[in-house]
Amino acid sequence: MIKRIGILTAGGDCPGLNAAIRGVGKTAILNHGMEVIGFTAGFSGLIWKEYIVLDESKLSGILTVGGTILGTSREKPFKMEKGEETNEKPALIKKNYKDLELDCVVCIGGNGTMKTAAQLQKIGINVVGIPKTIDNDVYGTEITFGFDSAVTIATEAIDRLHTTANSHQRAMVIEVMGHDAGWIALYAGLAGGGDIILIPEIRFSIDSVCKAIENRFSKKKPYSIVVIAEGIEHPSHMSASAFIAERIQSLTGIETRDTRLGYIQRGGSPSAMDRILATRYGAYAAELIAKGDYGQMVCVRNGKIGSIPLDKVGGKLSLVDPNDQMIEKARKMGVYFGDE
Ligand code: F6P
Repeated sequence: MIKRIGILTAGGDCPGLNAAIRGVGKTAILNHGMEVIGFTAGFSGLIWKEYIVLDESKLSGILTVGGTILGTSREKPFKMEKGEETNEKPALIKKNYKDLELDCVVCIGGNGTMKTAAQLQKIGINVVGIPKTIDNDVYGTEITFGFDSAVTIATEAIDRLHTTANSHQRAMVIEVMGHDAGWIALYAGLAGGGDIILIPEIRFSIDSVCKAIENRFSKKKPYSIVVIAEGIEHPSHMSASAFIAERIQSLTGIETRDTRLGYIQRGGSPSAMDRILATRYGAYAAELIAKGDYGQMVCVRNGKIGSIPLDKVGGKLSLVDPNDQMIEKARKMGVYFGDE
């Protein structure tokens, strides 16, 4: 029996989505003779039966392309606009799944997408999940694709800030993405030689951040680079970087500028590592489908590709452990996390 599968990409986009689509599609077609379609705009395409056929020609030339050829959305089929649960859209999905004679839907997304995928599996739709996000906060895997590209871009931005910070003897605050998790700030902060790194997982005090900056200036280090995650707790309506920069300047008198990296770190071509990870995830997802091993999310565990049941993943986040070795070593090198 030839299997027919659908693929969708949901939630915020990231580099590597097309590499994952290609990995699933090529493995499914070339090794298992499957038929592959791609739903457009995330779960919306599944609800409203909007899709394209993904044949070999459609899967060619997309490995290096950023974004997603399928489009994406933040549609949550089990939630109404006001947040109550609904059965209407899940019923449409069930009907479309049957009409299109699908055997499985591959859901590529972050935490929210994995939760929806687990709910779909519960109502009788076979799903396989693939974790993606620049934030690297999907529970159940050691790494998501998109993260390496974002860290690379953020690191380059920090490198560039160093020279202008040095010329003007300023403090520079750079805000990177990460609502709940500080992975990008931590990795880019270390790779870029940030002096102070603030992440949501470690409580900071603005007074000690200022003290650290003054301390650097008194040691004849004429500038400071402060790398912060967008999700750090602060009491204002300003962006995190604008708030921290304003506080540093008014409490220390040191000229301070802020930069918010924003969507630049989410766009463009995936890094080599992300292309490889997304390809491996995609290929593994197709193998799971071939075996009929549904209700799983592909993952990296102890450095190897494997899978984990979707119902163990939903609703949880992978956060930075404040006692992580990386943080401990960084502290020993004089990197400051705002908590001392
Ligand atoms: O992809 C994750 C993420 O980049 C978060 O870090 C960020 O806050 C969020 O998405 C913003 O995405 P959007 O504006 O597309 O909803």
